[in-house]
Amino acid sequence: MAQLWGGRFTKETDQMVYDFNASILFDRRLYRQDIEGSRAHVKMLARQGILTVEERDQILEGLDSILRDVENGTLAITSQYEDIHSFVEANLIDRIGEVGKKLHTGRSRNDQVALDMRLYVREEVQHTDALLKQLLEVLIGIMEEHTATFMPGFTHLQKAQPVTLAHHIGAYFEMFKRDRQRLADIYKRMNYCPLGAGALAGTTYPLDRDYTAELLGFDGPTLNSMDSVSDRDYLIEYLSALSVIMMHLSRFSEEIIIWNSNEYRFVELDDAYSTGSSIMPQKKNPDIAELVRGKTGRVYGSLMGLLTTMKGLPLAYNKDMQEDKEGAFDAIDTVSQCLTLFTGMVHTMKFCSDTMEASAKNGFTNATDVADYLVNHGVPFRDAHGISGRLVLACIAQGKALDDLTLEEFRAECPVFEADIYEAISMKTCVEKRLTLGAPGETVMKQVIAKNKEYLELKQGWE
Ligand code: ARG
Repeated sequence: MAQLWGGRFTKETDQMVYDFNASILFDRRLYRQDIEGSRAHVKMLARQGILTVEERDQILEGLDSILRDVENGTLAITSQYEDIHSFVEANLIDRIGEVGKKLHTGRSRNDQVALDMRLYVREEVQHTDALLKQLLEVLIGIMEEHTATFMPGFTHLQKAQPVTLAHHIGAYFEMFKRDRQRLADIYKRMNYCPLGAGALAGTTYPLDRDYTAELLGFDGPTLNSMDSVSDRDYLIEYLSALSVIMMHLSRFSEEIIIWNSNEYRFVELDDAYSTGSSIMPQKKNPDIAELVRGKTGRVYGSLMGLLTTMKGLPLAYNKDMQEDKEGAFDAIDTVSQCLTLFTGMVHTMKFCSDTMEASAKNGFTNATDVADYLVNHGVPFRDAHGISGRLVLACIAQGKALDDLTLEEFRAECPVFEADIYEAISMKTCVEKRLTLGAPGETVMKQVIAKNKEYLELKQGWE
């Protein structure tokens, strides 16, 4: 047991208490951020005359050697230490002796852990954003290729009106674009440095908080020390953004699962992204999409967990806050894995354009266009809707599509129909006429793709 706080205790901590209290098994992943924060703190202490330049250099060298040895695997972060902060400090003292004991001057583990976690989350926000960008690049590629690939658009999972694959994929493009915007907002709001808040009330040493904030790439120091050590809003916001990302991935996964089914056959997953069955030789299962859909639950769980942990906490730091880590790390790892695999799966997936188009034709997705044709020839919309509906009913009885009706059959229902009805309700016309901005018509779709390509060139706030 290596503890930083034995002084006022007369008994050893009970082993079970020690284990229950310790966080090293999960906060050890913060070693880099912990050392980075300590480096900035020590530089500031020397600049303020609280440490000498020699002391600063000895400490910096010691910290660097710890970082190097952890990274090259010669120094293991073991459960012999209570947390990552104790690990770094104890090893520093082992390596450089007495002067190492000066590292923690004017600092508490409360502002230290607040800083470590912010540094970690700040990096992860950027990583999530980079993964989303890769996914968007894949999606824009599919969109460019499929502006004339017709497919049924659905409402209530019933065929509704014809769209294109570019248009359908474009919907997801917008979702993941908003996810990136959310991350940019979070980054901007969280990018303030809590270091110097001390345990809760600042310190009596003349710390220069602006300087440490600047050294660590923050926009400035936080403005209330009690809030600084007990704020986990940024993490809640990040978990919330991750939950929304998972919700989007899960919806997309669900569609891929449906599209990949024998009944639809709109897509075929690459062998590298599918799995087989141990009993049924014919099976090629969409496990990756199912797992992405399934893992959405645990990410929501982490968000709910942290919201619940925080809800009754009085100011300022409380040990409850140590519970922010495991769930957050799990959610961050999960989303990173899901985004990476999902992007690979979509990138290698084949779209069966003919099946999609045939499906759009079979489902009376041009019934609205039959009505619109009549409206354009002076029939009031409500009457036109009725006529088109009766034609659909006749087609269902005969097992055919609207396009298969003879002109006589059309005219028997309404004499307004002329030979140009076939052209008017062809899949191509139905889609091409939909030219409101944001609709599937090829001209507007291409404009949207061009806008989105420009968007992909934009830099994020932190770049
Ligand atoms: N392991 C702790 C956490 O994650 C570090 C801060 C400990 N502070 C304290 N006063 N015990 O929150």
